[in-house]
Parts: sequence; structure tokens; C-alpha cells
Amino acid sequence: MQQTTQYAILAEDVDKQYKNGVQALSGLSLSVKRGEIFTLLGENGAGKSTLIRILTTFLRPDSGRISVLDWDLHRDAEKIRARIACVSQQTSIDTHLSLKENMMFQSRLYRIPKAAAQKRMDKLIHAFDLIPYLKYPVSSYSGGIKRRLDIALNLMSEPEILFLDEPTVGMDIQSRMAMWEMLGKIREEFGTTVFLTTHYLEEADSLSDTVCIMKDGREAAQGTPFELRQYIRQDMIRIRFSSKAAAKDSAAPMAGLFPGGKVRIQDNFCMIFTEDIHTDLTKANVYLLKNKIPFLGIEIKQPSLDDIFLKFTEDTGKGSCI
Ligand SMILES: Nc1ncnc2c1ncn2[C@@H]1O[C@H](COP(=O)(O)OP(=O)(O)OP(=O)(O)O)[C@@H](O)[C@H]1O
Ligand SMILES: [Mg+2]
Repeated sequence: MQQTTQYAILAEDVDKQYKNGVQALSGLSLSVKRGEIFTLLGENGAGKSTLIRILTTFLRPDSGRISVLDWDLHRDAEKIRARIACVSQQTSIDTHLSLKENMMFQSRLYRIPKAAAQKRMDKLIHAFDLIPYLKYPVSSYSGGIKRRLDIALNLMSEPEILFLDEPTVGMDIQSRMAMWEMLGKIREEFGTTVFLTTHYLEEADSLSDTVCIMKDGREAAQGTPFELRQYIRQDMIRIRFSSKAAAKDSAAPMAGLFPGGKVRIQDNFCMIFTEDIHTDLTKANVYLLKNKIPFLGIEIKQPSLDDIFLKFTEDTGKGSCI
């Protein structure tokens, strides 16, 4: 008898090396709760698409333990495949068919009885505001509407998890906002677990129940946007030196001055993450001037996504919860 847990996905210590020697995933672990919007946030090459391909059973990992909907990914791939859907960059829309014909065609692929399919179709068309587009040919739809229809098609089979790889890439801000609203509806009205990837920090922030920051093939941090924002809101003091060596020389005494591992070096800069910007700015200034340390500039900076990535990977060593 299969046991049902609160988790839609559990991945532990997953490795994947491509044949060309690229290590796309190395020791990745994460957990996705049933019914939540889970966002994988990472830069180009972080391994996001590789992980989606593995979780959707198209690619085999080299090692690690993965369960999807409490099924083992290796043993029960068929069962998993029947209960998930994946929206990729290539749409499954046939532009020769009408919107409704596309949806009914999809239902036949999944052998959904006609009456049930029609009911499902009407609910999806209504939920995703597709009614105004029924009278136009699908070939005339904008990219944003095509993406919306594509997601509706993928929901015809009532999947328990919907995977979306960069659903808003290349969209203007209005289309992106419409997409966010749609993803929220998928969670609220259909109870579907949503697993998506993105480059955009603000997208992860406004949309997700849980965010996993991914870097170099593994998780750097996983938490709620609220937890993540604590770091985003954290200011940074950036001191510029004439060289990396000079920046490095300052690092050890600076670390002593700001305990808690908040100091790091990048190029010829020494960065100090701080929650008390005024006290720490004064502290850094006094230290530099008193000890006659030559520096070229000192400023307050909002950390970028990359700064946060670096901070997590340096601070935590191996992934941890924030
Ligand atoms: N089929 C493949 N064969 C060899 N290497 C690959 C293959 N697919 C991806 N890679 C490499 O694996 C690493 C992870 O790629 P992946 O596509 O998973 O990253 P990503 O986070 O999705 O990036 P992006 O944001 O650009 O989509 C990259 O270095 C990439 O070049
Ligand atoms: Mg990708």
C-alpha cells in the first residue's frame, strides 16, 4: 500500500553528468509540498532544466533518491508520467485547429470521456479568461495568449503537478503579470502543485510559496519568499581597494570586526553584509582611517541576486534552509 505524504516531490543528493563531462547537478536536494507554488531560481546553466527533465522522467539521474507523488522515480516512472504535465518552450498547440478543438484533441490523447472533457474545457476557458479569443483563429494569438492556451491544454488531463520551465521568458511585463495571476489560479482553483523555473527574482518573490535558489547544480537555499527577502533587504557596504590583494589583506581584520561570516571579497572589493547599515558603515570607516588602510571608495549597495547566490554558497557550504 502506497503511503501518501505532504510532499509532491522529494529529491535527495541528486547527481547528473552529461556525456560531454558537464556536471549539471551535483548533490542537489529539495522538497516540494503538495499544492504549493515552488520556484527554482537560478542563472543560466545552474541546472534548472536538467532537474525538470529528471523530475518529469525524461532523463535519468546518475545517483540520488527521488520520489514524485510518493512514487519512486526509477521504479514507477509510468505512474508518475500519468499524473504530471510539463509546459516546455515548444508549445503543443496545433494552429490549424480552433482553441476548443485543440483542447478536445488533448483530451482524446488522455482518453478522457467526452462529457468530462467538455466540462473540464469550459472550466479552464473560463478560469483563464480565454472566452474573448474563441472567435479568432489560434494562429492569430499573441505569444502570451498562446502560452496561456498551452497551459490550459496541459491541465486537461488534471495533472497533480504542473512543471513549467521559464514560463515568462521573453514576455513583456503585462503578459508576465497575467501569467502570475494564472499560476495563482492553478493553485487556488485546481489545487495543482506548480513547479516552475525562472531567472527573475521578483517573480519568485511575488508568486511562490517556496523558493529554491540554485547554483552550480545544487540548492544554495530553500525557504519562503519572506525568509528570502530578509536577505534581499539586507544592505551591503562595499569598499573598493586598488587590487584584489589589497582587498584580501583587509578581509581578515574586517571579518573580526563584523563577526558572523558577513564579509567576503570579490575582485578588488571587500563586501560586508549588514543589518545595521549606519552603525557598521561608521565602524568600517573608523577602522580604515584609524589604521591608515588605503582604500579608493566606500559605499552602500543593495545586494544583487548574484551577491545573494554567492553569499549563500559561501556561507552554507552545502545547502541549508534560510
Ligand atoms: N544535453 C546536454 N548535453 C550536455 N550538456 C548539457 C546538456 N543540457 C545542458 N547541459 C549543460 O548542463 C548545465 C546545466 O544546464 P541546464 O540547461 O540544466 O541549466 P539551466 O539552469 O536550465 O540554464 P538556463 O537558465 O540557461 O535555461 C549547463 O552547463 C549546460 O551547458
Ligand atoms: Mg533551462
